[in-house]
Amino acid sequence: QRIFIPRDSAAIAVGADAVARAVAHEAEARGLQVEMVRNGSRGLLWLETFVEVETPAGRYAYGPVEADDVAGLFDAGWLQGGAHRLAHGLTEDIPYLKHQERLTFARTGITDPLSLTDYQEHGGLEGLRQALAMTPEAIVEQITASGLRGRGGAAFPTGVKWKTVLAAGDDQKYIVCNADEGDSGTFSDRMLMEGDPYTLIEGMAIAGLAVQATYGYIYVRSEYPYAIATLQAAIASARSAGWLGSQILGSDRAFDLEVRVGAGAYICGEETSLLESLEGKRGLVRAKPPLPAIKGLFGRPTVVNNVISLASVPIIMARGAAFYRDYGVGRSTGTLAFQLAGNIKQGGLVEKAFGVTLRELLYDFGGGSASGRPLRAVQVGGPLGAYLPESQWDVPLDYEAYMAISAMIGHGGLVAFDDSVDMAKMAGYAMEFCAVESCGKCTPCRIGAVRGTEVIHNIRNNQQREQQVMLLRDLCDTMLAGSLCALGGMTPYPVLSALEHFPEDFGLPAIQPA
Ligand code: NAI
Ligand code: SF4
Repeated sequence: QRIFIPRDSAAIAVGADAVARAVAHEAEARGLQVEMVRNGSRGLLWLETFVEVETPAGRYAYGPVEADDVAGLFDAGWLQGGAHRLAHGLTEDIPYLKHQERLTFARTGITDPLSLTDYQEHGGLEGLRQALAMTPEAIVEQITASGLRGRGGAAFPTGVKWKTVLAAGDDQKYIVCNADEGDSGTFSDRMLMEGDPYTLIEGMAIAGLAVQATYGYIYVRSEYPYAIATLQAAIASARSAGWLGSQILGSDRAFDLEVRVGAGAYICGEETSLLESLEGKRGLVRAKPPLPAIKGLFGRPTVVNNVISLASVPIIMARGAAFYRDYGVGRSTGTLAFQLAGNIKQGGLVEKAFGVTLRELLYDFGGGSASGRPLRAVQVGGPLGAYLPESQWDVPLDYEAYMAISAMIGHGGLVAFDDSVDMAKMAGYAMEFCAVESCGKCTPCRIGAVRGTEVIHNIRNNQQREQQVMLLRDLCDTMLAGSLCALGGMTPYPVLSALEHFPEDFGLPAIQPA
């Protein structure tokens, strides 16, 4: 009988390893034969350690389990799905999971992340096999037709990017996976790499076939040691199984890849500084053009895609462009893995088709605030994303609809705040973050963020408030228009949204209800 205990770092952080040891100990002491599978996380993070017991009726869920609970769970007959205060019934019936549309995360939390057999038994490699029978142009066409857009945050059409690299004539091209997930409150890249690494490997191999690149790099942040170890083990197994190498799956096509580890700078998630860092240099932003698609890693045409973009490719190749495009709204097709964090009762990963609203995510999935106080603001899209007040929580999450309200979906991170938040302090924090993480290459960001921090300090301390607010708006205009990359160019989003929607926190007159 199998018992699933996640090996995801979110579970390990709250004691999953101790739970696993306790399960092994109790099972042995009771003379019971159990097989322990260290799976990925299902993404119900408030229930970690989330343990599942396999029975003929399906997998029964228990959580949050601590090592001390294990003996009692055996006593309660959990091997038969027995009742217990930590029992949640059949996993597949839990509303949080049942109401999701898991395409990219279809296998995460279900399979053993490093089992080649499990992967194939759950639909793995179907996309790569399809791609091997197609021309590069046909693969690019299928990705274009699916409408897939960059999931790192910028939402650029993946097919168009691949087409540029395919058309760039060169005998060496690269696939670079951006796994430097630096946005506050985000963890979807990590969860996928730790829970279903072969999907990313398969997606990168398909990208290689599509643009005729034979080598890839996964650039992972050093703060993700478990993801790094899992990827390295998965790449070694995939290589020994012939999924990677000079003849992938026995074909005459070659693709191989390796993991490279970053050193902790937020700016190395920006694609050109990431490439500098991969080349062994300091992570400074390069001016674009030339685009990495034309002149990228070591001066060669390079696809730089986020983990989730690449991991969404296998299902598009396996099920077809129309299948994927049928999810979502308008030009935002498919699904996004939203990540619920901050002051939220049920934090975790929710993969839904575009078009869902913030209110649904916050209440139907998130269950409201963790503190029990009313929610007041949500930052969507990481530290450079706007703060949304309740009046905007019914706008459908779709790239264009968000752009229309000067917000962005970004990488899908939501950080919730209750009514005890001081939004002027949060605006100051955005400027401080930019000052600390700025690469220093351009003036609007390098100097602007330091000045912005001072100006917000002055506003909060009522020193020439009206004049300082005007200065802050001017400064934001300069940063928006004059910065070389998104760090300086988007820091004004959280600042201006806080000022616009929560003026009372800056000592200005509050907005009167319409
Ligand atoms: P961008 O809009 O300049 O470029 C988007 C992508 O499209 C790039 O890969 C670019 O090289 C490519 N591209 C643009 N035109 C092209 C063309 N004609 N042909 C081929 N490729 C083309 O945006 P950027 O600066 O790459 O990313 C900014 C975004 O990054 C922000 O919107 C933010 O959401 C996100 N971000 C994500 C973080 C995370 O942790 N995931 C952290 C910080 C920012
Ligand atoms: Fe560097 Fe900031 Fe300029 Fe980006 S905006 S290039 S991080 S100084």
